[in-house]
Amino acid sequence: MGGLQGRRVVLGVSGGIAAYKAVEVCRRLMDAGAYVMPVMTRGATHMVGPTTFSALASEPVRMSLWDAPEPIPHTRLGQTADLVLVAPATARVIGCYANGISNDLLTATLLATRAPVVLVPAMHTEMWEQPAVQLNLDLLRSRGVTIVPPGVGRLAGGDVGAGRMAEPADIVAVASEILAPQDLAGLTVLVTAGGTREPIDPVRFVGNRSSGKQGHALAAEAAARGADVVLVTTTNQPVPPGTDVVCVETAAEMEDAVLDRAAGADVVLMAAAVADFRPKAPAPDKIKKNEGIPEIVLEPTTDILAELGRRRRPGQTLVGFAAETGDVRAYASSKLRAKGLDLVVANDVSAPDVGFEHDTNRVLVLGPDGFEIEGSLMDKRAVARLVLDAVIDRRTSGEGKQKK
Ligand code: PMT
Repeated sequence: MGGLQGRRVVLGVSGGIAAYKAVEVCRRLMDAGAYVMPVMTRGATHMVGPTTFSALASEPVRMSLWDAPEPIPHTRLGQTADLVLVAPATARVIGCYANGISNDLLTATLLATRAPVVLVPAMHTEMWEQPAVQLNLDLLRSRGVTIVPPGVGRLAGGDVGAGRMAEPADIVAVASEILAPQDLAGLTVLVTAGGTREPIDPVRFVGNRSSGKQGHALAAEAAARGADVVLVTTTNQPVPPGTDVVCVETAAEMEDAVLDRAAGADVVLMAAAVADFRPKAPAPDKIKKNEGIPEIVLEPTTDILAELGRRRRPGQTLVGFAAETGDVRAYASSKLRAKGLDLVVANDVSAPDVGFEHDTNRVLVLGPDGFEIEGSLMDKRAVARLVLDAVIDRRTSGEGKQKK
């Protein structure tokens, strides 16, 4: 969650049963490197003990405008915050904020801040569906407040319906996106993702284990950092809003899609696992088992990345990936040189939890002139952040040598 590293977050907790989940939100914000300033309403203290937040957060919990020794806590909190996040946000807090009413420390802080505000409503279905609550939320949205909507699920009384607070991981992801640096604004980033499938006959194909998770994480991170993203993908992993998505299946389709769009891209990230060979003559009908073992003749596909290297326009940053086993560094270095890349992102796909299909990855990023970043095992979104940091570094300073 790079957007949160070192950022000051007021975590407002109001009086709903979901306040217990705010403990997890607090812990995740801390894990992501945020400085967390917790504020509880009186109602929230009936649900969770203030000591819990004081123990987990960066400073003791505040609950009142009149807490000694600080004379005006709401202005300090509001003015120093990079983000105010209220989870859970009750109908009362939403109503007060929408109508400019300050009647406790949390609502006073909301009115005393110019930082972005995220509200995470949680309440019973009847309250959630009240036109007054929905009107207040519409008003707040129109003023630029981010609302993380509740899900449908089991509620406090055991009944099931809309109003259940969003999950802590999703809440923290939204906070991180809002605080992400906009260092790719104005750039077009072309990303490829997933494994290609080369038909043998109408039902069989030659493929690989790429899930598209790493490529889609790159697209999501680039979009969060302000880029215009074009994603050429073979998978149906989630796509960030606003992305121009091109769905392909074979290496030839990926080649056409990428080469058509590459001239307009400032950065190209080739995370896809593209087949190196394809059946030369796919059978038009299903090959029958009783006709004996077929001989499948392969032919090479175009190396899209090498072709991009030949066509590269000035100012374009070209990043290849390398799925390797064995001497990863040596193989990746030779791909860097052979394909004329600015960066190669190597993963040792024989290591546990690394590479294909996993939610995590560990990469070695190499550039010409000794540029090197060695990542630890981390989730694929964090890897995306590391790769894009390296891209920015290359585009601004041109060279460097660091370890992470
Ligand atoms: O999708 P996931 O399950 O999340 O897994 C992620 C990943 C392991 C697929 C990803 O991290 C990765 O390593 N992608 C590159 C896989 C690969 O094909 O590596 P390679 O060493 O065979 O190819 C080197 C580079 O050339 C790659 O950037 C590839 O996109 C490109 N290439 C390869 C063949 C070809 N015909 N055209 C190409 O452009």
